[in-house]
Amino acid sequence: MRPYRFHFFVCEGKRCAARGSEGIRELLKKRVKEEGVKDVKVSKSGCLKMCKETGTEGEYSPAVVVYPQGVWYRNVKESDVDELVERHAKKGEIVERLLYFKL
Ligand code: FES
Repeated sequence: MRPYRFHFFVCEGKRCAARGSEGIRELLKKRVKEEGVKDVKVSKSGCLKMCKETGTEGEYSPAVVVYPQGVWYRNVKESDVDELVERHAKKGEIVERLLYFKL
């Protein structure tokens, strides 16, 4: 087995789930497979605590993080999935408009 180039974790904690993160994870996984993107894994995570960052609960939800780059995305929507696949999963480009921070 080769290591993943990118491992996407979609938060399915309570606040992100309330804003549709399960659907985002399912769509992201489906689109990665349909596009034949190799060495990319999509998983779910528990709460990443980003939802509490500003004191306004859920403001940054849903959250998606990508490792090993340490890229944290916020406010991801299903309509963002194709861009994440085309730019990040395929080319390793960060989608700046969704970026919360990068380690
Ligand atoms: S529930 Fe997703 S960051 Fe907290």
